[in-house]
Amino acid sequence: MQSHSNATPRILIADDQADVLEALRLLLKGEGYQIEACSSPAAAISSLESRDFDVVLMDLNYTRDTTSGQEGLDLLARIQAVDSVLPVIVMTAWGTVGLAVEAMRRGARDFVQKPWENERLLAIVKTQIDLSNAIRRGLRLEAENRLLRADGLPTLIAESAAMQPVLQMIARVGPSDANVLITGEPGTGKEVVAKTLFAISPRSAKQMVTVNAGGLAEGIFESELFGHVKGAFTDAKTDRVGRFELADGGTLFLDEIANVPLNLQAKMLRVLEVGEMERVGSSKTKRVDVRVISATNANLDEEVQAGRFRQDLLFRLNTIEIQLPPLRERREDIPLLAAHFLATHAQRYRKRISGFDPAALQMLLDNPWQGNVRELNHVTERAVLMAQDTQIRPADLALRTARDGSTRLEDMSIEEVEAFLIKKALARYNGNVSHAANLLGLSRSALYRRLQRYGL
Ligand SMILES: Nc1ncnc2c1ncn2[C@@H]1O[C@H](COP(=O)(O)OP(=O)(O)OP(=O)(O)O)[C@@H](O)[C@H]1O
Ligand SMILES: [Mg+2]
Repeated sequence: MQSHSNATPRILIADDQADVLEALRLLLKGEGYQIEACSSPAAAISSLESRDFDVVLMDLNYTRDTTSGQEGLDLLARIQAVDSVLPVIVMTAWGTVGLAVEAMRRGARDFVQKPWENERLLAIVKTQIDLSNAIRRGLRLEAENRLLRADGLPTLIAESAAMQPVLQMIARVGPSDANVLITGEPGTGKEVVAKTLFAISPRSAKQMVTVNAGGLAEGIFESELFGHVKGAFTDAKTDRVGRFELADGGTLFLDEIANVPLNLQAKMLRVLEVGEMERVGSSKTKRVDVRVISATNANLDEEVQAGRFRQDLLFRLNTIEIQLPPLRERREDIPLLAAHFLATHAQRYRKRISGFDPAALQMLLDNPWQGNVRELNHVTERAVLMAQDTQIRPADLALRTARDGSTRLEDMSIEEVEAFLIKKALARYNGNVSHAANLLGLSRSALYRRLQRYGL
């Protein structure tokens, strides 16, 4: 939807009589309007589809049958299908007011009888243009408000001590232009933090542009980020704007940054360092001003060590680093988070559930939460769906018996016991595989195989 309030108002006229078109064109042009004249319904629709107008002035009778007005009414319906807000003024021959009334009943805003009085016609056109501008402005405001609400501050629950440094950091660097790297295990809320940083920044008037580096095939990565020009490669049928250009003047969220292919990291570094880039297949340098917020659950230092990530790029990205602790290190937040998710899902599924019973809450507090906040969200959603009662019971949570220290061995399968012992051994030696293997009486390679099998 576009507004033309600051441009010359544009009027589409449709009438199959050449002299009528000419007279209207002269009259309206004289008032400073831009005019496009069409002599058939088909021509009117194709004009409407190719550019925006502020008002349509159309005859109801066309050559096919000159009295019923059916062609005109059809055209009216098609115009409304193309743009439901565009005001349409119909013109009818003298003595066919009934037809004009029918057109108004179907959404025409006003009507003019032929032969028309210039003053009256101009007054009607002006009124409709003013009205339509006001309506479009209203719709635009409404759309903006909706965006603001949707993109406003996301819910970030963080009462625990472990989250206080995170909150302080967000408050301090959010409003700046500094690049921020957010790290943490899967499901710890990295995206929530990215959205919060963005929402409190001066750049929040522009949408945050997101790229998920984990979800992009290597072949399209470069053009996704930097765009391309027509003909740059076989499938490049048209020019394409990349995410960096889209985010110009705003914020780019690079999610799962560790997945950016090594060969593109240099190009990325250059945008971050000097704000310059070229579209794929183009030699024209573009300047972009982008704040980059990135996130990863990988250990980028290790990626640098392994030669998979450029250290200079890491230094550009992690001007500020925010580390999100796993949920098991902020268990005080579990009741609040669970209550928040419960309320959300109960509303979504229209179920009356007031909370968790004490045993269920205790289970939530004791669970290891390998999947962190996301897992808690999913478990709560499932429990809401399962619950028969106004409170969530332990069985509704469908949690497998805890896999951490409080586990009862007799409830576990052999694989679970093995995985459990391996985790314990690794924890004891801070992840040192040789020592853990020693303790378990396994060779290093036997332990590695098991680590793979259990996804540890
Ligand atoms: N502190 C929090 N308060 C409220 N909701 C949260 C919080 N942290 C995470 N969530 C919710 O948990 C879910 C997972 O969060 P998010 O997607 O931000 O995690 P992530 O760290 O980006 O995960 P991944 O590494 O898998 O991409 C989302 O539904 C999010 O809204
Ligand atoms: Mg994420």
